[in-house]
Parts: sequence; structure tokens; C-alpha cells
Amino acid sequence: MSNTNEIQACIFDLDGVIVDTANSHYKAWKRLANELGFDLTPEQNEKMKGIGRMESLDMLLEIGNIEADKKEKKKLADLKNGWYRDYISEMQPDELLPGVIDFLEELTEENILIAIGSASRNAPTIVRQVQIGRYLDALIDGSKVTKGKPHPEVFLKAAEEMGVEPAHCVVFEDAQAGIDAARNGGMRTIGVGSQQVLHNADMIIPGLNEINLEKLRTLEK
Ligand code: BG6
Ligand code: MG
Repeated sequence: MSNTNEIQACIFDLDGVIVDTANSHYKAWKRLANELGFDLTPEQNEKMKGIGRMESLDMLLEIGNIEADKKEKKKLADLKNGWYRDYISEMQPDELLPGVIDFLEELTEENILIAIGSASRNAPTIVRQVQIGRYLDALIDGSKVTKGKPHPEVFLKAAEEMGVEPAHCVVFEDAQAGIDAARNGGMRTIGVGSQQVLHNADMIIPGLNEINLEKLRTLEK
């Protein structure tokens, strides 16, 4: 008989969980804000984490009290994305965050399926550059979803592609919007970051170097 709490798949957010690109997103948004004549604080940026590109731009423009039509917004988003892509263009496998490969190896050995569930349209490029494609059973990125986190679509699609029920999935997230998305989809959650920032995750770890199979399995109890 199968355990109803059994963990059959892990779904990882990408930016800030697998690679340190959350910082590069912040750098590029801050640069855009500065060009537009205002600043973006780390606290304001925290709320933009996990959110899609155009929604993030809307938040940024609201912070700066700036109005823009659709065409101008597209131009600004492209500008930010160009800088962001420049920052990540030289990204190498050694820029994977500590503990990532060891944990992916451990999951693979135990036949636990692995997916990426990211709001970023740049996710496939990053996965290629850091060479983790061989571990993945599904890769759902920003171009495959119509509703952003905290809607659960990105994680539900990943689960569906792997053929695993949401109740058997655990999501790793560094953004509150992502924790909410996973919970909205009926999945268990591991917050990657600090308790001060992430609320209501089933477990909080500072990084993937602080998780292994044994610790993961405590969520099955
Ligand atoms: C998320 C990031 O993963 O992707 C956000 O946390 C980012 O900061 C979003 O805005 C969209 O990314 P991209 O690469 O499609 O602009
Ligand atoms: Mg993230």
C-alpha cells in the first residue's frame, strides 16, 4: 500500500534556489529604476521575487509613480531583460548554489522525480548554461504558463508532466509568492531563505546544502 504522504517528486524554483540569479534580477530592476529617476530597495524587491516579468515591471512603475502605455512598458521590460541576460551570459556550472548537485544526485538515485517550476522565460537558457538538464523530468518556465505565482499553474503543470499527484510533490522556493503558489496547489513546501521573509512553509532551510533525503523524508511523517 502506498503511503499517502510519500514524496515522489521535488519541484524547484530556479532563481534564488538553484542559482543566485535573484540578485541579478534585482540588479537589473534597480538599474532600470535608477534610469527612471528613483531607487529600488531590497525590501521592495522582495515583493517582486517569483513574479513574472511584466507584473514585476508594473510593481516597479508603481513604486516610482510612473505611468507608461503598453508600448513603453514593452520597451522597458526589454531593456531590463537585455541587462539581465548580459549579467547571466557568462554563467557556468560552478555558479550552481552550494549543495545543488549533491541533492539532485541523491534524489535521482532514490527515483524521486525532479522538475523546475520557474516564472522566468530565461529558465531554459540558465538550465543549459549550468548543465542540469540531465537531472530534469520536467521544466516549466514563464513561457508555458498564463497565470503567475501565487497561482499554482506552474507547479501543477510540472506535476502533471511528471505524472505525479500534487500531494506527492514538495516545492522548494525562495519567494513568498512561490510558497503561496505551491500551497494553493496542495503541495508541501520548503522555504529556501530566512524565516523572517518566508511564512508558512513546512520547513525552512538556508540553502540546498542544508537538505538531504533523510531530512526531506521527515515531511512524510
Ligand atoms: C522569477 C524571478 O523566477 O522570474 C523574478 O524570481 C523574475 O524576479 C521572473 O522577474 C521573470 O523572469 P524573466 O527572466 O522571464 O524576466
Ligand atoms: Mg525564486
